[in-house]
Amino acid sequence: MSHGPSAPSATAGHAQHDHAPYEPVFTPGSKRKAELDDLITRYPDKRAGLLPALWMIQQDRGWISEDAMREAGDQLGLTAAYVKGVVTFYTMYHQHPVGQHFIQVCTTSPCLCAGADQVVDAFLQHTGCKELGLTSPDGKYTVIEVECLGACGFATPVQINDDYVENVTPAKVPEILAGLKP
Ligand code: FES
Repeated sequence: MSHGPSAPSATAGHAQHDHAPYEPVFTPGSKRKAELDDLITRYPDKRAGLLPALWMIQQDRGWISEDAMREAGDQLGLTAAYVKGVVTFYTMYHQHPVGQHFIQVCTTSPCLCAGADQVVDAFLQHTGCKELGLTSPDGKYTVIEVECLGACGFATPVQINDDYVENVTPAKVPEILAGLKP
């Protein structure tokens, strides 16, 4: 059963975030700037700092915008095009705003056979997300389908931000959502 697009898109659900001015992360004297400067001293080529720099931006800003790509590039002497190539290669980087709680449900065949589709439906229903990839109107949730999360024996596994929840069933979804940090 199809639930719509499986990756975040720059459509209606994200519109509330799209025009906010970008606030740089690596401002002079900031903790992040010191963290990045320290990190790149450990590598012969400061390009190696790109993945962690992008991760810091995503942690602080929630996603990697074009402005963020330029900032990362400026910090490391890389072109925005080079940075974009990296961001678009790795699926863990969000290229559009996502909800505070980014919910990834495994719908690869073994989990699908165990009812992952119903788990997806339950998350959509209880979060208010209109479809996969669209953020809920309150900005709190984005639900997507993903390939194998490496927990096939614990269907259905769900990753919410950096945390795993195993053996998820539709009945458990309200309780899982209630337990998330506000
Ligand atoms: Fe779902 Fe492996 S198939 S975790």
